[in-house]
Amino acid sequence: MTPQDLDLPSPAAMSRLDLFGDEFVRDPYPWLDALRADAPVHQDPGTGLWLVSRYDDIRRVLLDPAPAVFHPDNAQDAVTPLPVGVLRVLARAGFRLPPALANNGTDSHHGLRRVVTRFFNAQRVAAAVPVIERIADELLDAAQRRLEATGSCDLFEVYAQILPCRVLMELLGIDGVDPATLIRWSDASLELFWGRPAPERQLELAALVGEFSQWLTATVSAAPARPGSFVEALSRHRLPDGRPLDVGTAVGVCFFVFIAGQSTTGQLISTTLHRALTEPRLWSRAADEQGFPEAWVEEVLRREPPVTTWRRVAAEPVTLGGVDVPAGAQLLLMLMGSGSDPEVFDAPDHMCPHRANARHHLSFGVGRHRCPGASLARTEAAVALRVAARRLPHARITPADERPPILGLLSFRAPLQVRVAP
Ligand code: HEM
Repeated sequence: MTPQDLDLPSPAAMSRLDLFGDEFVRDPYPWLDALRADAPVHQDPGTGLWLVSRYDDIRRVLLDPAPAVFHPDNAQDAVTPLPVGVLRVLARAGFRLPPALANNGTDSHHGLRRVVTRFFNAQRVAAAVPVIERIADELLDAAQRRLEATGSCDLFEVYAQILPCRVLMELLGIDGVDPATLIRWSDASLELFWGRPAPERQLELAALVGEFSQWLTATVSAAPARPGSFVEALSRHRLPDGRPLDVGTAVGVCFFVFIAGQSTTGQLISTTLHRALTEPRLWSRAADEQGFPEAWVEEVLRREPPVTTWRRVAAEPVTLGGVDVPAGAQLLLMLMGSGSDPEVFDAPDHMCPHRANARHHLSFGVGRHRCPGASLARTEAAVALRVAARRLPHARITPADERPPILGLLSFRAPLQVRVAP
């Protein structure tokens, strides 16, 4: 079967692929299918990144045994180069990105990661369910009032993006900042490092990232840290050589966790709600059927995850998917497309809650850097769906809102609006 039979973009059309363009952001599936079928390891002319599209190749890169060939050092690099003026704004704020978590291939990674996993282990997540439900209820009280007063309400704005931020603040003991500010800083960081902003916009974003960095520096430097908080756990942590963490690395850890712990989950909740509201009978099943929200969230993670790609860099020349990749090649692992690889998932374009291998997707990564927040993210999204479906049983998306604006960054994708009417 050729790409034409499947109505896929042809290999020649790959030169038209624009990872930030509206066509790809709105409907990436034909491109992801074509890449997997015809160009499984393909250098994208727009970004210079090597797109790796097949499930098995991505898994191989992520499970790379030591001594590693595929390093994580580029995980947080700005995909759009930062001009000197922007670098100056960041430098003035003392912003740095030392190896900490996702971008750390050194021997300090394991211990730092353990600090994070202790906060999000299965017991802590199970104990957090009442907290998530309480905050969900509070936010939906406000949503309901807005629906009654104005006849519509955007569940992304008032619910999906705020819930994970407030949950994270409670779990990590973050205070001294309001959720709206934390969300603004986090969104600015994602856009600056994973987006394609114009130079003037980069300056605005850098100013926000600088504010975020200065606040984090003040927070990790303040003594004594709040007992039981994440910052206190970092202050007690010792590096492999016995030294305590320097402020820059502690800020780097918090920078990543405070962003990863809320923006991505907000995006997952947004996609979960949007898809549940646009497919027949889903909303009522989510309200009533035991285990259904969890199964639905898993399918959303497989088919339409919020973290669509992740990066690695090849430390030496290597053959991947039959293609010779040079040393220094920046790889872009197409996590989202791998969840629709027909070699692994039957009828991948169908949402089949409870499919047998539902959890085999790579949307949280796998191996040494596998997302330590996976259990919290899954739980929050399932609770968010169940509580919303019960509290707003008649909510519906109006036809005009079925094609919402979409966040389209290199590694993050989700509807930026879930407007419902009662
Ligand atoms: C739906 C929500 C989320 C998705 C899809 C997601 C996805 C990912 C992915 C793909 C990675 C990279 C894995 C790799 O390099 O192999 C990652 C790493 C990470 N995530 Fe998440 N994540 C989510 C939510 C969270 C949450 C809620 C937290 C914290 C509470 C979190 C904290 C982290 C951290 C600290 C890392 C770096 C781990 C390391 O390098 O060892 N994430 N995540």
